[in-house]
Amino acid sequence: MLRINSITKSYHQRGTVLKELSLHLRDGDSMSVIGPSGSGKTTLLNIIGLLDKPDSGEILFRGEPLLNYSPDESAHYRNRNLGFVFQDHLLLPYLTVRENILLPLLASDLSSSDFGEKEQHAIKLMERTGIADLAEKYPFQISGGEAQRATLVRSLVNKPSLLLADEPTGSLDKNNAIILGELLLEMNRELGVTIILATHSHDLAEKMAIRMELVSGALEEVNGKAK
Ligand SMILES: Nc1ncnc2c1ncn2[C@@H]1O[C@H](COP(=O)(O)OP(=O)(O)OP(=O)(O)O)[C@@H](O)[C@H]1O
Ligand SMILES: [Mg+2]
Repeated sequence: MLRINSITKSYHQRGTVLKELSLHLRDGDSMSVIGPSGSGKTTLLNIIGLLDKPDSGEILFRGEPLLNYSPDESAHYRNRNLGFVFQDHLLLPYLTVRENILLPLLASDLSSSDFGEKEQHAIKLMERTGIADLAEKYPFQISGGEAQRATLVRSLVNKPSLLLADEPTGSLDKNNAIILGELLLEMNRELGVTIILATHSHDLAEKMAIRMELVSGALEEVNGKAK
């Protein structure tokens, strides 16, 4: 589904961050990316999400080259295909959990029957992730772990085929980090959503089927158990 051919990305002060990085993922893969702070994990996810552009190289999504997309085409690609989960939950404080979760549906131009179908999907996901009882609460009334599960549900309501998760457990305690990690894998198995997960947590990284490390700007497979 995703093929990255030799992308390179430099920033003025920093120099080369990604260097001739290539990657090939199939539908339903789950991949973790580890690497020290500043190694380029977020840069890579931003480039795949078309939030940033590489200096050279090529990215194909289902065979379509992405890098010449106009801003409109980029937004369309993101809305149709991608889900995002970041370290901080970014729920809007003045909307309820339910409203936050349904927000991406309002941003997409859906017929009322499609909206209804995706709303049902959202309700199922809320039950599945144990936050159905929190639907009418506001973000300040729920825990960080619950908020991050709500963010995961929000990222999935549009049925993306690719989920980009940047340090999704970074602000969670150990227990909640384990719950979220399990949920990510269950969503991968049950919904078939492909996952690219950047993390500092070796425990979480190990759970993904494909384990990569960013070394000198390119991806190397992590073999066996991580340190
Ligand atoms: N917009 C930008 N302008 C200039 N430099 C940038 C920009 N974005 C990232 N960088 C630099 O690129 C390098 C890679 O940053 P990136 O955020 O991808 O690292 P990371 O692996 O995600 O780190 P962390 O684990 O801390 O999140 C860093 O040295 C960072 O300072
Ligand atoms: Mg980062």
